[in-house]
Amino acid sequence: MHPKRRPLIAGNWKMFKGGPAGLELAGACKELAPKVRGVDLVIAPPFTVLAAAAADLDGTTVGLAAQNLYPKDSGAFTGEISAPMLKECGCAWVIVGHSERRQYFGDTDALVADKVAAALSHDLLPIACVGETLAQREGGETLRVVKQQVEAFLDVIAQSKAAVAIAYEPVWAIGTGKTAGPAEAEEVHAAIRTWLSNKSAELAERTRILYGGSVKPDNAEGLLGCPNVDGALIGGASLDAGSFGAIAEAAQKLAQGK
Ligand code: 13P
Repeated sequence: MHPKRRPLIAGNWKMFKGGPAGLELAGACKELAPKVRGVDLVIAPPFTVLAAAAADLDGTTVGLAAQNLYPKDSGAFTGEISAPMLKECGCAWVIVGHSERRQYFGDTDALVADKVAAALSHDLLPIACVGETLAQREGGETLRVVKQQVEAFLDVIAQSKAAVAIAYEPVWAIGTGKTAGPAEAEEVHAAIRTWLSNKSAELAERTRILYGGSVKPDNAEGLLGCPNVDGALIGGASLDAGSFGAIAEAAQKLAQGK
């Protein structure tokens, strides 16, 4: 964590909490916000909850994210949702290129770059996800793979002034209970920071790099304490306001230097 960047703690609910349970969780996250001042909290519920959650979160500091978008403004794209639609229903953020999208829905590096561009052109802040598979890590390919994924959207974010976030989520650590150790995470985060700074020092400074993959209250402090880890993208533990809040509190303590 770096004093120049506010920690960003984001919850990716994936395909959970779609109805009243989602609104209840959004309400509980709203209660957390005043307790973790200095930390940016973002929640990414399923599409069906977004509009109602936006109304409930109105006037609070909790940011609302969608989990995906389609990179056209409108058209005959059955089942898809555009950046203007997300903006209109109250989102400020959108997760792009999550490994589950890449793995199950064919999101390629090129499509991810288009989605990042579409988000930025409508004032939505992307949380662009990157990360290697277990086979790639074991094959010593982690940095090559992650660099290729980052380079796909690097020009797009360099041309914007927006405070984009990049989430490094090693695929083998997602939902598995296995997590990269702080040193493993920091190695990749530092590399991402270097690739950003090769574009511009200002881009490297403003971009928050989140870690994701089995982040829990008991490992959050170690991960968030790394110099180039600016926050977390949390799956399972974000479905419980208590554990999501505990991770946000760990970020707050580190940011305050406690
Ligand atoms: P888990 O925290 O459940 O491992 O999920 C991480 C993730 O994919 C967040 O986007």
